[in-house]
Amino acid sequence: KSDIVVSAPGKVILFGEHAVVHGVSAVATSVDLRCFGVLSPRSDSKVALEVPDLNVEAEWDISALPWNLLPVHIDGSRRVADKELDPPLLAAIESLITSNDVANPAIGSQLAFLYLYMVISAKESNAPSGTFTASSNLPIGAGLGSSAAYSTCIASALLLAHNHIDNPALGESFSSSGPGISPGDTDLIDGWAFLSEKVLHGNPSGIDNAVSVRGGAVSFTRSVGGRKGGLETLNGFSSVRLLLTDTHVPRDTKSLVAGVAAKRLAEPALVDSTFDSIQSISDEARGLLGGQSHVGRDRLVHRLSAMITENHQHLVTLGVSHPSLEMIVSATSAEPFNLSTKLTGAGGGGCAVTLIPDDFPDTELDSLLSTLRNMGFTPHLTSLGVPG
Ligand code: MEV
Repeated sequence: KSDIVVSAPGKVILFGEHAVVHGVSAVATSVDLRCFGVLSPRSDSKVALEVPDLNVEAEWDISALPWNLLPVHIDGSRRVADKELDPPLLAAIESLITSNDVANPAIGSQLAFLYLYMVISAKESNAPSGTFTASSNLPIGAGLGSSAAYSTCIASALLLAHNHIDNPALGESFSSSGPGISPGDTDLIDGWAFLSEKVLHGNPSGIDNAVSVRGGAVSFTRSVGGRKGGLETLNGFSSVRLLLTDTHVPRDTKSLVAGVAAKRLAEPALVDSTFDSIQSISDEARGLLGGQSHVGRDRLVHRLSAMITENHQHLVTLGVSHPSLEMIVSATSAEPFNLSTKLTGAGGGGCAVTLIPDDFPDTELDSLLSTLRNMGFTPHLTSLGVPG
């Protein structure tokens, strides 16, 4: 048996982060920074995880995993719903991992890996031995969906491992674009990646995994309460030049998301009217970026710039900006640049995105890049809408 090699992209939320957790639509695209995974078969009844970026090197005996705690369905089959987290199982897995500091990415990555490993193995009635190694050129915890890209890699590698076992006719070598994964598997992988995101983030909206699995650009609305959500792929996506600037300020998505929920309880009128304004921005962005609104390129870039500035102000109101992000907003909007910037993802640090108009001169771009570097930030010019 040979190695299974997979990869999945990170994402940039253009409009609607945080509000999306509460049922508002968001528009996001994949970005050309990826997580890579290799699942190498082994023959010693062990499963192992290696994530050198997080100093993770761990292995477990497959028989010692808490299989007895997987929820059992009426018919006696060991099945867990694809999108539901089972707290007792999670706690049992947590106790296998030496530290219980789940907020630590190194521990979270092990927990998410083992959780998915058990759920997928139980569903497919087979637990393959193997070492899963992940590495990524996505900055971790920077708002670019590194955890969703990691979750997507695990889910697709495990699906491929099972396809391999069940279907040797598929051949010896696989890749995410190869014969092992069919378009029909997309929803399945997305469901599993979402489960892993729940292990890592508590109450994620599901937008990060939706983009990482499918690539391209999407408009995403979560089902909340009785209101039905949905996912629309923006097929006519008109890409734009985007500068992504990493503040290097670490933050925790889970607590930022919880902070917005607390603010909504404390100040419902303010937060709900902010959400309404963000919904209008996302609606307009969906039309502009998905090619439904037939406006000229200049008008498109002009409107997007205005909406970036406006959406950032709403995120400030929600309390998820950070002084480092405000420094980038000020530097990019000042003369001679006059550009629009917003935070992207959870905020509280992480990354900012700046829209670079098509006719923005290269000399000014160079000067902007050095300004940001001199402030201690790392700017990346990105390519959007890459494959999932
Ligand atoms: C994180 O990338 C985006 C948030 O909206 C959280 C979520 O949607 O799960 C802050």
